[in-house]
Amino acid sequence: MSAKSASDAGAARICNLAMDAARVTEAAAIAAERLAGRGDEMAADLVAVEAMRATLNSLDIQGVIVIGEGVRDEAPMLFIGETVGAGTGPAIDVALDPLEGVTLAAKAQANALAVVAFAPRGSMMHAPDVYMDKIAVGPGFPPGIVDLDRTPAQNIEALARFKGVAANMITACVLDRPRHKDIIASLRTVGARIHLISDGDVAGVINTGDPATGVDIYLGLGGAQEGVLACAALKCVGGQFQGRLVLRNEDERARARRVGLKEADFDRKYEMNELISGDAVFAATGVTSGPLLDGVVRSAGYVQTHTLVMTSATGTVREIRTKHKL
Ligand code: FBP
Repeated sequence: MSAKSASDAGAARICNLAMDAARVTEAAAIAAERLAGRGDEMAADLVAVEAMRATLNSLDIQGVIVIGEGVRDEAPMLFIGETVGAGTGPAIDVALDPLEGVTLAAKAQANALAVVAFAPRGSMMHAPDVYMDKIAVGPGFPPGIVDLDRTPAQNIEALARFKGVAANMITACVLDRPRHKDIIASLRTVGARIHLISDGDVAGVINTGDPATGVDIYLGLGGAQEGVLACAALKCVGGQFQGRLVLRNEDERARARRVGLKEADFDRKYEMNELISGDAVFAATGVTSGPLLDGVVRSAGYVQTHTLVMTSATGTVREIRTKHKL
């Protein structure tokens, strides 16, 4: 087989996992939603982890977790390096967060999601458990329209120029954290609208890919692992994403070394195709309702889920509403 047809075959096999990815996040979301609003973050996370792991292990994949619940010593299940799947089928990297936004779920607030991404083995960055400085925009912009090395105000002005609108018509999504005061101050200088979120920056980034959410750009520091997951989603819709690790002390540098990063990578600005070099499949199911996805709804005899499944090879975006018989 030629190199081109081998890579086409790999892309096709990843695409074929779209419905499997949806099943994985549906199972986690259904489990987590039972504990939404109960104030117990750990319990909600645990049931989501158990449900996601059981479903992953029923799939015909040879999966290795590259973004998971933590390192082996700290996470009993879905730890980084754990193999998942039935051991047959494509060899893939798996990035997951069975309950993205545990606090949102525990407080029954909007935007808690179950998320998973698949990519061919060896094509996803092994991100350490540290912050990542992120910038993301959706599809339809020229490459490089925004850049982590420009100020937030400059990025807003570039988007506004391209869209032919005033800067105050551009909406930036930012996590509501004291560490973002300089970003927010810069955005205010050009009058951008700021959509502050309390948690859940995977949804924050994905929202840039859906005009209906009204979010034009995502900016700021959030989890590096969430960065890789969100990047997978944007890759599927043709958006743009850059990330740079934030290693504030020796402990965080040691975490980066443990996942195999070299000193030269520590300050590097990662482009989308460096975070995920192969084709990706991304799925997210709403646990609680938000602008992107409705949450799990229970009715007599059924539980209903709302899932987004996307594949980068074809750019297909499926929105799936499923009734699961109890
Ligand atoms: P968890 O689901 O792991 O709690 O993550 C929620 C989250 O808001 C992420 O979406 C985000 O990347 C990260 O936490 C931000 O971290 P911090 O709360 O430390 O600012």
